[in-house]
Amino acid sequence: MGIMRNFKMILGGIGLMLLGTGTFSPAAQYDHEIQDKKMSFAWKVDGDNLAVKMSAQTEGWVGIGFNPSKMMKDANFILGYVKGGKAEIVDEFGNEDNNHSLDTKLGGTDNVTLVGGTEEGGTTTIEFIMPLKSSDKNDTEITVDGDTIVLLAYGGGRDSFKSKHQFRTTLKVNLSTGASQKVK
Ligand code: HEM
Repeated sequence: MGIMRNFKMILGGIGLMLLGTGTFSPAAQYDHEIQDKKMSFAWKVDGDNLAVKMSAQTEGWVGIGFNPSKMMKDANFILGYVKGGKAEIVDEFGNEDNNHSLDTKLGGTDNVTLVGGTEEGGTTTIEFIMPLKSSDKNDTEITVDGDTIVLLAYGGGRDSFKSKHQFRTTLKVNLSTGASQKVK
């Protein structure tokens, strides 16, 4: 009897372990998350890299920008969308107050690595990894222990990087503690 009970307990334990792995959520890969209206930004500082998940209620693009000097100027932008089940991502730079262009068109380099993307129930989610200190001549280094200006935005229904934002927000974030404050 005793052996049988132990056997059942072991089986139960294995079952719980399997259940545990089955319910593991991908959000657990990230240490911090900010939600603003219909958009969220989750991240993890991973050594010299930043792992990012950006998500918004749109069938168009979702985008993030780091450290503009003014409006969109000088910000390091990453935009992504999912078209026909396939995620596309671009690494851009704010070359003017109201304009940005591909890093590669500005004499720089593409430094982001796409991890994945989904578009489900009208929500687009893009995950990528970027270096905190990119080799692009335009990008400024992102300092994790201090304030980073983070721009979040998303476009309309069209899968085009040319369509303007439907929503945008500016936040001041401490990437290492997760503390954040809305700037405007
Ligand atoms: C194709 C993509 C985009 C287009 C065509 C575009 C266009 C524009 C234009 C025309 C303005 C000036 C007028 C206004 O304030 O509405 C502007 C401002 C701005 N955009 Fe974009 N944008 C794009 C992507 C982004 C992305 C990805 C972000 C951030 C993640 C962003 C953040 C901002 C901010 C913060 C401002 C200015 C705010 C201020 O007045 O200080 N934009 N954009």
